[in-house]
Amino acid sequence: MHGTAHTNALPTPAPIPAGALASRLAGGHSRTPAMPSLAWTPEVERATARLYDKVKSVVPSVEWPFHAPYVKAINELKRERNAVILAHNYQTPEIYHCVADVVGDSLQLARLAAKSSADIIVQAGVHFMAETSKLLNPEKTVLIPDSRAGCSLAASITGADVRLLRKRYPGVPVVAYVNTSAEVKAEVDICCTSSNALKVVESLGSDRVIFLPDRYLAQNVAAHTQVKIIAWHGACEVHERFTATELERYRADEPGVEIIAHPECPPEVIDIADFSGSTAAMVDYVKTRKPRRVLLVTECSMADNVAAETPEVEFVRPCNLCPHMKRITLPKILDSLLYLREEVTVDPALAERARRSVQRMIDLP
Ligand code: 13P
Ligand code: SF4
Repeated sequence: MHGTAHTNALPTPAPIPAGALASRLAGGHSRTPAMPSLAWTPEVERATARLYDKVKSVVPSVEWPFHAPYVKAINELKRERNAVILAHNYQTPEIYHCVADVVGDSLQLARLAAKSSADIIVQAGVHFMAETSKLLNPEKTVLIPDSRAGCSLAASITGADVRLLRKRYPGVPVVAYVNTSAEVKAEVDICCTSSNALKVVESLGSDRVIFLPDRYLAQNVAAHTQVKIIAWHGACEVHERFTATELERYRADEPGVEIIAHPECPPEVIDIADFSGSTAAMVDYVKTRKPRRVLLVTECSMADNVAAETPEVEFVRPCNLCPHMKRITLPKILDSLLYLREEVTVDPALAERARRSVQRMIDLP
């Protein structure tokens, strides 16, 4: 795994013993807490000043009065509910820096979800991430603030497609990127993320591997291994839009820029980049090497999140937004914590099979 997930320096909810939520619920704590006031007051300003300081370089001061009451209310409600917020690196700065307890790439979020001692996990990310958290925490309440937060990769393949692939290539092991539904995970041998895809493919000891659903990640892995990769045809709608021509232009126009790209980009884009890695590896690259100018070839909120922590680095910004990640907002997170919605559920028999594929990945040395 590249990089380290970090926990924001926010007060974390005190752990409560397993089963305590059930007794709280029995004791009447299931009632919906009162809707907090969302007014911008001197008290809200004071209570959130330290957090605004973290994001002031990327969140305009005119916007803070709208975010701050939500930030305060969410952080209070998290303690009351014994909830944690797991946020992907693509979440907006006011989520990533101001209400998340844990931030990271898909692998880090999956690992940390497996270790959580909270009763409630709120996934600030997309649906497959929330499903993965549920698979690893069947006894916990996992919430996603907007269940329509999908993913073009996850939508590109079904469990029935995997069964057909198995018929067509009997005996060939199947690796699924975590950007898939639980139904797909249940049909495959092992999962991978962008940070461990090569290691997972090579761990299987097979000369051929079916790799799904991202054809570009598959090609980028194939460039580094002798294993023959049979790829599905899915693509990330955010990363597939970057082109080699566009990056050549940035290289010419922005002298000295270091280009770092996510491996969901087409191979000709990766060829131009100085470095390629998962979102966590990209964050690490910027924080540790502190390039003078950098271009992150990925979803554009990530540049804001890293920029807030590395003022000495100049970010050249193409901006491709993921419409699914952007469905998650502070008002929806508050709603989620208040009304415990939208709960993510996975059929237990299917979950058992899907969990095996995720756990096998997590257990890889
Ligand atoms: P990682 O954060 O694991 O690199 O994956 C990016 C992604 O696809 C999130 O949508
Ligand atoms: Fe899916 Fe791409 Fe959005 Fe990630 S950035 S959630 S891979 S569509």
